[in-house]
Amino acid sequence: MQKLEVFGSNKLKGQINISGSKNASLPILAATLLSNKKIYLRNLPKVKDIDTMINLLKSLGSKAKFVKKNLIINNFYQDKKFAAYKLVKTMRAGILVLGPLLAKFGNAKVSLPGGCAIGSRPIDLHLKGLSKLGVKYKIDQGYVHAFAPKGLRGSKIHFSKISVGATENLIIAACLAKGTTTLTNCAIEPEVKDLTNFLIKLGCNVKWIGKRSIKIVGVSDIKQATYSVMFDRIEAGTYLIAAAITEGNLKIKNIIPGLLKTEIDILKKIGVKIITKNKEIKIIGNKKIKSLNIKTAPYPGFPTDLQAQIMALLCKAKKDSFIEEKIFENRFMHVAELNRMGAQIKTLGNKVLVKGNINFASAELMATDLRASVSLILAALTAKGKSTINRIYHLDRGYEDLEKKLKKVGAKIRRIN
Ligand code: EPZ
Repeated sequence: MQKLEVFGSNKLKGQINISGSKNASLPILAATLLSNKKIYLRNLPKVKDIDTMINLLKSLGSKAKFVKKNLIINNFYQDKKFAAYKLVKTMRAGILVLGPLLAKFGNAKVSLPGGCAIGSRPIDLHLKGLSKLGVKYKIDQGYVHAFAPKGLRGSKIHFSKISVGATENLIIAACLAKGTTTLTNCAIEPEVKDLTNFLIKLGCNVKWIGKRSIKIVGVSDIKQATYSVMFDRIEAGTYLIAAAITEGNLKIKNIIPGLLKTEIDILKKIGVKIITKNKEIKIIGNKKIKSLNIKTAPYPGFPTDLQAQIMALLCKAKKDSFIEEKIFENRFMHVAELNRMGAQIKTLGNKVLVKGNINFASAELMATDLRASVSLILAALTAKGKSTINRIYHLDRGYEDLEKKLKKVGAKIRRIN
């Protein structure tokens, strides 16, 4: 089992180039199932979840190979409709193949995602929406057995709750449904928009008709396409917080600052200096960090995927802060580990009270989920001495070259087997 050793308390200085977005790549990879033509995808991040999704596509009969930085996918012989538990259980986004398989073949057997450290990860909104498109399904032995006897037919679907995955699954499925589908109360994360941009490149008839409403008219012919996925918004936010917590001075490149408006506003309120240019952000940390109360929310609110990271930062604030987690029911696994480093964070249901004026102490730590793991590294970067973070396979799921990028800007961090 690999672990990371972090020797803390130096300021990060220099430039970090942001990789492609994991959460844009996963639905886009699933959506390639719609096509029987060659698709070229660029800027996919080299992270475990992408490998898992590619393996899932291969298990369905897709041909996929990297040529230099390009992934070439060819689904000409793709004819399987069974997505096995062993692949879906490690990466819940595997459920995103359900929509395209039903759209293309009219039937599919896909493993239920199962829960994870941050919550039960239900898929009721996915299934309710697909039923509106004419899908019948039953859940049996941990699998969704779904079929559309008369093919998918367009419909009006309103999501009772904002869900990134359900929005993505339904958008993809509706692209081949007969007739028109309108989806309302959609998730509008930039990664969802990246998916719709990709689908339009494939020749799908997809149009945003309101802030959270989209209209899709089914097509029968999908084109060949080349597409480059957007930058990873959460990776960028993580390194912004890394600069703030180490009072460092970083230039974050290959990004669209406008998609990080909420994060930038929050960090400015906390007291760091931020200068944005067209594709980069310059961030200068500050000794004095102000406390702030934060609630996570669907985009354009503060992202739940940065909640653990901003919590580590707010431990350094002059006063106490409140953080409310409004998206997932159990996304405080990092609290116990941060408290072992000297933080004083009290959990009150889906809220935490974060005591300020904390100096983290180095410790032996355990990662529990992707974003919690990185919050431990941020804390360890400010702690004197050596911290060790175990179970870093969580990190490898979603951060490309993390140690390399941090080392390049002065962090003393190394991976040991
Ligand atoms: C996506 O997960 C992201 N994953 C998550 O990032 C992110 O935290 C989440 O959106 C919220 O932004 C990918 O894009 C691959 P949801 P997803 O459906 O689609 C409930 C990371 O760290 N819900 O928007 O699974 C659900 O339980 C990961 O990169 C239902 O009740 O999230 C949750 O409480 C973690 N029924 C809330 O909605 C459903 O059918 C939001 O979930 C679906 C979801």
